[in-house]
Amino acid sequence: MEKDTDITKVVRQHLQMENFFTGGFMVRSNKTSSESHNIEHTDNKQVKAELEKIAEEVRKCAKCGLGSLRTNAVPGEGSQNARIVFVGEGPGADEDAQGRPFVGRSGQLLDKIIANGMGLKRSDVFICNIIKCRPPDNRDPRLDEIISCMPYLQRQIELINPEIIVALGAHAAKSLLNNNLPIGQLRGQFHEYCTGIDRTTIKLMPTYHPAYLLRNYSDDNRKRVWDDMKKVLAELGLAVPKNQRKPAG
Ligand code: URA
Repeated sequence: MEKDTDITKVVRQHLQMENFFTGGFMVRSNKTSSESHNIEHTDNKQVKAELEKIAEEVRKCAKCGLGSLRTNAVPGEGSQNARIVFVGEGPGADEDAQGRPFVGRSGQLLDKIIANGMGLKRSDVFICNIIKCRPPDNRDPRLDEIISCMPYLQRQIELINPEIIVALGAHAAKSLLNNNLPIGQLRGQFHEYCTGIDRTTIKLMPTYHPAYLLRNYSDDNRKRVWDDMKKVLAELGLAVPKNQRKPAG
């Protein structure tokens, strides 16, 4: 990723332009940050419909070259009431084949982190990626691809309005925070994600990507991801499950 591009600013400009031409897409949930997620969005159905509309746009998207290379676009999936949105880097081969996020080996580990570690169901959260189409040979997403794709993610986050975003890996963390620090320095503490439209902020916890964890499967790294997820649970006022096991433990 090039160093000095202000991704957030460029994407905000794209978003404002899109908004200007389309007359605005936004259906903000009525939830405020102090309200519990147990309270249903009053416009729940509308949020769900808007998320599906974004997914349809993503499936038809040809804004960058990746659109012509994909088998399936991967818009993301999960609850429109999610208190946590997990954001990965981009689809791999399994995700491209199925059109669903995190369904390969990394996804199995993410499922374990969510279930064994956090005591949640995959369907409780929302899972998506910075870019919605698979880069060839799983190469890193390019800056132009991130910039074209980010408005979709921004709109998904605005609609769901989660209490916490978990950024999985360096690409997600850097793109959402507009920050070039290594993931090892970013993880372990909350940062602020600034929403595209009204610039309210959402707490963001960067942590290691499950694929990194699989490649560097040490007790120390597993504990680090663990500690990050415990902070997320604490912030949401949720108890750590009694029989909590380390990822894939
Ligand atoms: N890695 C990601 O970053 N996202 C996926 O959906 C799958 C693997």
